[in-house]
Amino acid sequence: MIVVVPKIRGFICTTAHPDGCAKHVAEQISVVKNRGPISGGPKRVLVIGASTGYGLSSRITAAFGCGASTVGVFFEKPGDSTRTGTAGYYNSAAFEREAVAAGLYARSFNGDAFSDPIKQEVIAAIKADLGQVDCVIYSLASPRRTHPKTGEVFSSVLKPIGQSFTNKNLNTATATVEEITIHPEEGDDIANTIAVMGGEDWQMWMDALLAENLIAPGAQTLAYSYIGPELTWPIYKNGTIGKAKEDLERVQRDLDEKLAPLGGKAWVSVNKALVTQASSAIPVVPLYISLLYKVMKENGTHEDCIEQCDRLFRERLYNGASPQPDEAGRIRLDDWEMAPEIQSLVMSRWEQVVTENFQELGDIEGYQSSFLRLFGFGLEGVDYDADSNTAMKVPSIG
Ligand code: NAI
Repeated sequence: MIVVVPKIRGFICTTAHPDGCAKHVAEQISVVKNRGPISGGPKRVLVIGASTGYGLSSRITAAFGCGASTVGVFFEKPGDSTRTGTAGYYNSAAFEREAVAAGLYARSFNGDAFSDPIKQEVIAAIKADLGQVDCVIYSLASPRRTHPKTGEVFSSVLKPIGQSFTNKNLNTATATVEEITIHPEEGDDIANTIAVMGGEDWQMWMDALLAENLIAPGAQTLAYSYIGPELTWPIYKNGTIGKAKEDLERVQRDLDEKLAPLGGKAWVSVNKALVTQASSAIPVVPLYISLLYKVMKENGTHEDCIEQCDRLFRERLYNGASPQPDEAGRIRLDDWEMAPEIQSLVMSRWEQVVTENFQELGDIEGYQSSFLRLFGFGLEGVDYDADSNTAMKVPSIG
């Protein structure tokens, strides 16, 4: 039992608060429950990358909106009596406690989702406990992947392609607006980023599940992507990560064909830019996010991961809703972010923003509090002076 305080190193917080993470999960559950049940939703859901960000919110929506049994896969560190675990570990512990209290099946696997052994463990659990799944959400964000067949280790990079990119950037530690230049990709950067963040692993999961007849008739599978405004394109859409996202769409088309005989569907859902552990590491994007938050909050259309996932299930996938795909067949949950009136205001503020006016034009408070909340800090009703049980376990992992 120790008193846990935030320790921020660059764009990561190296501590996490078990009770704060539990509160964060509880708040997300309330958002979904307050909107009422989602009809026609999946009852057996596998979420790969289930412990933080979009994956956690997807799992919460499936469980508490649709009443689904959930299997979650993630790569997190448990804590012990002297050291904190990672936020995703505590989130998952809290999620499972809440799910079980609500009478919902929940089982979690902590390990490398890219590896064959984890896939085999999950497959065995689905076979034994659920029979099949009717929804598979793929929400991994990782800097590295060890290829399960060759053992080769790939690292993904966030770089522009062909030429350097210079733009404004938020130094989140000092809340100052600086200029950053990112040098273009070199060597195998593009292929390596595709190997980590592209579609191959999603395909491997789905092929393994299909081979074992674990995909139910009418099942849907989704992976998440981002497009964003032109100012971020050199580093995102047209950069190395964008090539990986294109590969995700290639796999989506392939999976869609494979699921068609079962009456199923594969989707790429393009989501809103939000503060998560993954997005904090992308240059330029945090400054864009802080300007975006301010404009969308003023406009009354701001959403966090949970509202996005709830809208995805409730207004695109289930509940008698239509997915409303774009011309490329993608679901667009970034529709409110990309609305012309939002973008034109964000763009004009982007032109003007400097350190001196940033507090006024950007939502630095919102950015920083969202960031701290990812690690369980700054939540209402949590006693941050009290000792916390850092050795807390995810019940199904023990
Ligand atoms: P995140 O960092 O919050 O979550 C990543 C998840 O992947 C965690 O559950 C983590 O444990 C898991 N993970 C990472 N490596 C793993 C491994 N080797 N084995 C098992 N689990 C592993 O990230 P976030 O932001 O929720 O991203 C999820 C997806 O959503 C990504 O594809 C991302 O590109 C996409 N997305 C994110 C947006 C954003 O603004 N944050 C916007 C639109 C899409």
